[in-house]
Amino acid sequence: MILETTVEYIKEKTGNFIPEIGIILGSGLGELADEFCQTAIPYAEIPGFEASTVSGHKGRLVFAEINGKKVVMMQGRFHFYEGHSIQKVVYPVKVMKKLGVKTLIVTNAAGGVNAEFKPADLMVITDHINHMGVNPLIGPNDDSMGVRFPDMSEVYTAEYIKLAENIAKKLGIELQKGVYMAFTGPSYETPAEVKMARIIGADAVGMSTVPEAVTASWAGIKVIGLSCICNSAAGVSTVGLSHEDVIEAAAKAKDKFKVLVKEIIKEL
Ligand code: HPA
Repeated sequence: MILETTVEYIKEKTGNFIPEIGIILGSGLGELADEFCQTAIPYAEIPGFEASTVSGHKGRLVFAEINGKKVVMMQGRFHFYEGHSIQKVVYPVKVMKKLGVKTLIVTNAAGGVNAEFKPADLMVITDHINHMGVNPLIGPNDDSMGVRFPDMSEVYTAEYIKLAENIAKKLGIELQKGVYMAFTGPSYETPAEVKMARIIGADAVGMSTVPEAVTASWAGIKVIGLSCICNSAAGVSTVGLSHEDVIEAAAKAKDKFKVLVKEIIKEL
């Protein structure tokens, strides 16, 4: 699929809506797109997009104005573990770039590796470790988007990490801060893997975000990463893990998550 075909299709459907902010809404965090929805296009209708297969993910692109800013939201994302190629996983980020997005807020549900994190905590991502064994930029480089060997020393814009922290403080929301490590999933990590993650510097583990953040950074988009810590990762607590528990914890966190994101949008 040629990127331009997708972009033209979306522009026609949205009446040439030019979003400046992109938001990828993770598991259980999609409500923001229900609250603010001007135009919605199901992924299944968008040329070049795949259909989303995960429960708790709606699978549509939502366009809206939030706090005076034009945003495009992915209500549900494509995961590598669903069997999509890594290029398909990051395709929407390239589309966002072509639509005019300058800042990407990428969110996810994650497991807490840092023992101080509690379920339903929010964490602003300071950096990541790619343990997926794959890089979304593999393949011919699109020089119109970014360079062949992009610098990754500040994927998550430092100024925006500070902004998120200041806003959280002002709103009285406790905001953790840390390094996100991506595994492919779909199985959760073993306790030994979580121990490794901690030793090499991770505070949270999950199955997404890194491919999209790498692609956005490559394309010159500023990135803000927010994790909802839904559970203590395997071995950090003795409780077993289930997708239902993850969704339940995200539901607990979703109100403060929405308030925080809306305020960040206002200040961007
Ligand atoms: N591991 C990986 N992904 C996750 C987790 C976890 O513990 N919780 C929510 N998403």
